[in-house]
Amino acid sequence: MLLAIQAVLRGKGGAMAALPGGFVGHCGYSTASSSQRLAGKVAVITGGASGIGRATAEEFVRNGAKVVLADVQDDLGRALAAALGADSASYTRCDVTDEAQVAKAVDLAMSRHDKLDIMLNNAGILGSLARPELGALDLADFDAVMRINVRGVMAGVKHAARVMAPRRSGSIICMASIAGVLGSGTPHPYSVSKAAVVGLVRAVAGEMARSGVRVNAISPNYIATPLVMRILQEWYPKATADECRRIVEEDINEMEGAVLEPEDVARAALYLASDEAKYVNGHNLIVDGGFTVGKVPNMPAPAA
Ligand SMILES: NC(=O)c1ccc[n+]([C@@H]2O[C@H](COP(=O)([O-])OP(=O)(O)OC[C@H]3O[C@@H](n4cnc5c(N)ncnc54)[C@H](O)[C@@H]3O)[C@@H](O)[C@H]2O)c1
Repeated sequence: MLLAIQAVLRGKGGAMAALPGGFVGHCGYSTASSSQRLAGKVAVITGGASGIGRATAEEFVRNGAKVVLADVQDDLGRALAAALGADSASYTRCDVTDEAQVAKAVDLAMSRHDKLDIMLNNAGILGSLARPELGALDLADFDAVMRINVRGVMAGVKHAARVMAPRRSGSIICMASIAGVLGSGTPHPYSVSKAAVVGLVRAVAGEMARSGVRVNAISPNYIATPLVMRILQEWYPKATADECRRIVEEDINEMEGAVLEPEDVARAALYLASDEAKYVNGHNLIVDGGFTVGKVPNMPAPAA
């Protein structure tokens, strides 16, 4: 009987998720969907208007945080802030290539809420999708990608550190990618930029530890956000949107029975942002269903 009740409670979207205040089992941890793991915390999310940033803003607010969305897509950002509620979210235009705008987003969190607990440096672009021979690489495109994906992240880390270090606490999270782990599969500037994000995290995490601030990276696999759909639509111009989505969700996917969604990355960010990760620092949390460890040697199948 007890086993039957436990099975019902564990069922997808079942009674357990609906219990008020979160169900705390005998293991001592609560379910993600109904707890307040970021209660009272304040976050800035760059690139917070779309895709992974948007899903993370929603997850953070669900878990009790106040968020400042910092993006260049004003309409989307304002609409999301309104949907999340004026008490929980605000939007500010912030182009991460302009250090003054990054500083302003951080200062907005400070003036509104008196503190900054979480900085999610998530804004990123792919750059040109042309895949020229290395000898014809467009360095202007390289600079443009590095300006957003690396310099923009560095600016976010710098200004978060400015306000977090004096308070001796905080969690800085930087969005990398499996492109920075694998080194191929996306245009060179993007892959280089994402490897640099992981390098940046490693470079600063030790120093920040001595101020009580943690700095970590997340490296997701492909997800069918607007950023990735743009690659597929350009590389497979005859494919429909559904076919492009299927390439991401089935062909690239290594994990049987599960599809990576922005919400999965949001939950990884939730963990790193929360006090549950109080001793996790300088880490690159790869969220890829085993994709980067799944390569098999190019050799004939073993004889039966
Ligand atoms: N989607 C994926 O498969 C995937 C995988 C690994 C890593 N990532 C990384 O996740 C992050 C979010 O990407 P996404 O997939 O949600 O894409 P997205 O295009 O949906 O979101 C990116 C957001 O960044 C914003 N942005 C772009 N340039 C900016 C700038 N200069 N200043 C401020 N904001 C800017 C965009 O307006 C957009 O809202 C990026 O860093 C991306 O590289 C994505």
